[in-house]
Amino acid sequence: MVSIQKNFSLKNYNTFGINVFASSFIEYTNINTLNELFINEAFNSIFFVLGGGSNVLFTNNFNGLIIYPQNKGIEIIEENNETVLLRIAAGEEWDKVVEYAVNNLFYGIENLSLIPGNIGAAPIQNIGAYGIEIKDSIKYVDFFNTISGKIEQLNNSDCKFGYRDSIFKNELKNKIVVTNVYIQLSKVENYHIDYGNIKDELKKVEVINLKIVRDAVINIRKNKLPDPAIIGNAGSFFKNPIISKQLLKEIQADFAEVPYYDIDVCQVKIPAGWLIEKCGFKGMKKGNAGVHDKQALVLVNHGNATSNEILELSDEIIAKIQNRFGISLETEVNII
Ligand code: EPU
Repeated sequence: MVSIQKNFSLKNYNTFGINVFASSFIEYTNINTLNELFINEAFNSIFFVLGGGSNVLFTNNFNGLIIYPQNKGIEIIEENNETVLLRIAAGEEWDKVVEYAVNNLFYGIENLSLIPGNIGAAPIQNIGAYGIEIKDSIKYVDFFNTISGKIEQLNNSDCKFGYRDSIFKNELKNKIVVTNVYIQLSKVENYHIDYGNIKDELKKVEVINLKIVRDAVINIRKNKLPDPAIIGNAGSFFKNPIISKQLLKEIQADFAEVPYYDIDVCQVKIPAGWLIEKCGFKGMKKGNAGVHDKQALVLVNHGNATSNEILELSDEIIAKIQNRFGISLETEVNII
């Protein structure tokens, strides 16, 4: 029989450190638990799969079932001279996977070092950093379909990956529990080190290897992003907005230096952190909520912030940027 805990505090299960309670909470280590939940019709009520809790903001107590994946294992499924295919259980910590890949000289995910969270959540929002997205390495995703009670598999193109987006945030939202992620990595030496920050960091070294690239990424992240174990946060709070080249031109008239990345002939993506800094929010504190002083894209909990304090600050930022630049920021964090 599955053991469901009642009235469970989520304070240590979300990196914002918000103290809310879930009416029910269950940890799963293997598929039997999911089968049993299905048989008991638990999926007919509200449920939420909580990985590392590093991309959520709970706004209220959660009146439903929290499913907390703790299934573990990294296995080599296929291997040849050039590539290796790994099957990784959803409850594995993401950075442990990167460390394993780097130690075994498997190339492809080193730029994603130190991203908090579990691998089960990685395909959902297509985690990305320093010019790489997890979609570049994912081959398949296995999930438990809570409607049919069966395990199903999608291949990379079926996952409909986009910038911080996938089918799991859309058509399959609230319908599935990711069980395994398959990633294909290269055994042939190759690096993605053109992203500005990495290029600068690697100027300090003479030779490059996987460990050096991983350490460079870890250094950059440690310098810019707050450690959730010390100060509550969920990484980027907003997505980087995509705007028209026409609007970019208007912004450039005032700020020639605005950073941007081309998306297509008509559109560019600009860093939300830059917009937030230009509106004077960087390092700002409002009650217990604040904007990180080294990366304005990150909202932080300075102590016992309530989710309302964080949301009020977020609303203020959204309104100011709409007003000043005519750009609507969207949250990247999952607000529940
Ligand atoms: N910038 C500012 N002020 C700031 C922050 C950034 O001017 O306060 C400028 C920087 O100077 C730079 C540009 O904005 O010119 C880009 O900054 P950065 O490289 O730090 O990256 P980002 O676009 O702000 C994105 C991801 C991060 C990821 C980094 C590195 C999103 C929403 N965020 O941030 O992902 O680590 O690139 O690749 O796409 C996350 O998703 O939680 C996350 C941290």
